[in-house]
Amino acid sequence: MLIFESVSSLQQYLQENANKSIGFVPTMGALHNGHLSLIDASQKKCDLTVCSIFVNPTQFNKKEDLEKYPRNVEQDLRLLEQQRCDVVFLPTVEEMYDDYTFKEFDFGALGNVMEGEHRPGHFNGVANVIQRFFEIINPTYAFFGEKDFQQLAIVKALVNQIDSPTKIIGCPILREKTGLAMSSRNERLSKEERDEAKIIFELLSNIKHNYSRGSVEEMKTYFANNLAKSNKFQLEYFDIADGNTLQPLSDWSQSDYCVAFTAVNMGNVRLIDNITIFN
Ligand code: PAJ
Repeated sequence: MLIFESVSSLQQYLQENANKSIGFVPTMGALHNGHLSLIDASQKKCDLTVCSIFVNPTQFNKKEDLEKYPRNVEQDLRLLEQQRCDVVFLPTVEEMYDDYTFKEFDFGALGNVMEGEHRPGHFNGVANVIQRFFEIINPTYAFFGEKDFQQLAIVKALVNQIDSPTKIIGCPILREKTGLAMSSRNERLSKEERDEAKIIFELLSNIKHNYSRGSVEEMKTYFANNLAKSNKFQLEYFDIADGNTLQPLSDWSQSDYCVAFTAVNMGNVRLIDNITIFN
């Protein structure tokens, strides 16, 4: 496995391999099996897999969240080595951004709901870092998890806006045995909290399997009321939206692709999850 810290050394290596298809998996490290499933998807599709580990400061709207973000590069490199990842890109903030001019992207309605509404500036930070990575790597394919469903939609919109040739591949959510969506942030939960957090997926699954028994509004109330039974959780949002436009639905008949989305705070750990209700 090759590790590059500078843009120029990575680009030189990629130029030497210009005949190969490149699969790119951007991450912020603290890797878990969800990340590794993206590496696996890339390896199945591409000649060469590049994984980046970069905790991108521009996408954190809270300083505290950036500071507390788990970092464990040595273990990450061990996992990537085991996974037989070809290339790891480990840039510093200066290496990424010294020659880069930030842009203001506008994703319209797609960027104004849910994560966009609750984390101002977040998607602009994501779009800039992805545009910068694509400029450096020019991957054939790039792999993103459906765990961050809205991010995936934003990245698809980004490649259209910047006319990038990179094809975006969405990959399914990997979950712990309890159903809790795998996340680097789960590391910051205690064992008990981690177990209790499984209720998020339980409630989402119940809604998926019983949605026809009630209205959209009733499902929202069901989710909020059941979550509120434990005072450990603070609900940031629960929305039922169209899976393409991400605009909220007020009636099941308004869409044939319907996804439930939530963000829940457990102490100061922010957990997001989603489930496709029907498609
Ligand atoms: P990070 O949270 O590290 O996630 C990296 C990729 O792994 C994202 O595409 C995310 O959706 C995916 N992922 C995370 N948990 C997953 C799970 N349980 N199952 C499947 N995929 C999962 O998302 C980011 O980093 C950043 O915003 C980034 C795209 C790297 C830009 O900085």
